[in-house]
Amino acid sequence: MFNTVRVMAICAMAFASLSATSALADEPILIKFSHVVADATPKGQGALLFKQLVEERLAGKVKVEVYPNSSLFGDANELEALRNNDVQLLAPSLAKFEQYTKQLQVFDLPFLFDDLDAVNRFQKRAKGRQLLRSMEDHNIVGLAYWHNGMKQLSATRALNMPGDANGLSFRIQPSAVLEAQFGQVGANSQKLPFSEVFKALQSGQVQGAENPWSNIYSQKLHEVQPFISETNHGVLDYMLVSNSRFWYGIPHQIRMELEAIIDEVTYVVNKQAEAANQADRQRIVDSGRSQVINLTAEQRQAWRDAMRPVWEQFQGQIGSDVIKAAQTVNRKHRE
Ligand code: LMR
Repeated sequence: MFNTVRVMAICAMAFASLSATSALADEPILIKFSHVVADATPKGQGALLFKQLVEERLAGKVKVEVYPNSSLFGDANELEALRNNDVQLLAPSLAKFEQYTKQLQVFDLPFLFDDLDAVNRFQKRAKGRQLLRSMEDHNIVGLAYWHNGMKQLSATRALNMPGDANGLSFRIQPSAVLEAQFGQVGANSQKLPFSEVFKALQSGQVQGAENPWSNIYSQKLHEVQPFISETNHGVLDYMLVSNSRFWYGIPHQIRMELEAIIDEVTYVVNKQAEAANQADRQRIVDSGRSQVINLTAEQRQAWRDAMRPVWEQFQGQIGSDVIKAAQTVNRKHRE
């Protein structure tokens, strides 16, 4: 049975390869890159830089179309569209792959990574690299990790201690870990697509959210969230993914050139993401629309203590080897 499936997969890949090659004789290979955020964000800029470099170096061979702000596909259907080859590149947040692999949920565990540098170290090590391949059975290949940044908690009331979140409802990405995280502080959560977050906060459907600064600023969430606590409690990063059959069907030489471009773009995105988030943080402070709350070390520790049980809860699904590997990347290695 397994062999039959493998043979079918190989035939399909060979077919995809043939069609990509014959398409090449007539017209460029088209790569549609769809994402859900604004152009002026780390991911938005990465997508545009990818398009620019491909146009410079592979003109006539590959054409890239970028669709920001859920204008082609949104959270609800983009991964299915990728698997059907209706879109060829996406960079969903790592919280959005739950139905294809549980291992990536490691990135959602609260207070696991001390900062973005620690996340970066994990992504570069063997276990992190291995996770790029964790969805190949679903025809999804991971090409790179792209940073956005650490998440902050925003709400209609000041969140200083975990108890302050009690009874509020937070918008979350579709992740059971994030649901459990808010459950730990007595809060409710609603899984909503990114394109609906502003409206849900504005209308009061939910009263809080967790986002990196760049997403708060570019979606104007600070205009409907009077308080933002600088918790840095988790990470929101991306995996650049393609349809495996499409990707491995690209003629070898062109694929190598595309992968070299991706490496270059990844370097730029990851180098600039932290500064971009800090610039947006400052813009939010300057706007005067939302109060940025700096937590004391004791207050932050209280949030960590409240949310930490989620690690044990998901250890079985994620794999203790994955969690252990992630724990070793902090400068101060803590249990
Ligand atoms: C979210 O849904 O909050 C994020 O995944 C959006 C994004 O792509 O940054």
